[in-house]
Amino acid sequence: MRKGVRIAASILAADFARLGEEVARVEPHLDMLHVDVMDGHFVPNISLGVPVISSLRKVSGLAFDCHLMVTDPDRLVEPLRRAGATGITVHLEAVPDPGPVERRARQADLGFGLVINPDTPYEALDPFLELCDMVLVMSVEPGFGGQDFLPAVLTKVEAARRAIDRRGLDVDLEIDGGIDPETIGAARRAGADVFVAGTAIFGQPDPVTAIAGLRTAASGGGA
Ligand code: DX5
Ligand code: ZN
Repeated sequence: MRKGVRIAASILAADFARLGEEVARVEPHLDMLHVDVMDGHFVPNISLGVPVISSLRKVSGLAFDCHLMVTDPDRLVEPLRRAGATGITVHLEAVPDPGPVERRARQADLGFGLVINPDTPYEALDPFLELCDMVLVMSVEPGFGGQDFLPAVLTKVEAARRAIDRRGLDVDLEIDGGIDPETIGAARRAGADVFVAGTAIFGQPDPVTAIAGLRTAASGGGA
């Protein structure tokens, strides 16, 4: 069942020199924090990792939705749990057989999600829906913030929504990349219920107002 709109702010767009301050400002207005972990191998960029998550956990009570853009997510499960992550999302392109990493995440009491890149068809993910607390459809190529939303991925969001509902699953449907007041409405109509936004929150002069604007636009209130 499609749930209410939830906003996950991606700290990739925050000022890393003032990360605690940036998070504290938006925390009361958010549903979760989206934490992009990269290894410079699965994607051509490196963002942050376990020590930064551990520091953030000391100053934030939010759920940490950790998006692992890494070739070997398995070895990160335990360190992330200790650092205070609440859920991990793993790329199907990196882990074509996600059963073992899902079990490891469950043992660590972490939520588990699978994510697919823009070029990966929905059908690749479909057999694994039952493993997931969340599925994530990338609406940009992973690795960098500030890219333009790819509307072609909306058909995959629709397909995931149909499958989740048809099978009566309690699986959140997240979308990540280029989400702003112009694009969030279409993503919501396609069936997404968790919306990642980096630039559209931390890149704005007033991130708190920006979050409110995203919520309004998601419910069809216009940009
Ligand atoms: C891209 C990341 C995204 C990114 C989104 O690899 O997965 O979470 O931070 O940034 P915006 O919202 O700026 O497109
Ligand atoms: Zn992300």
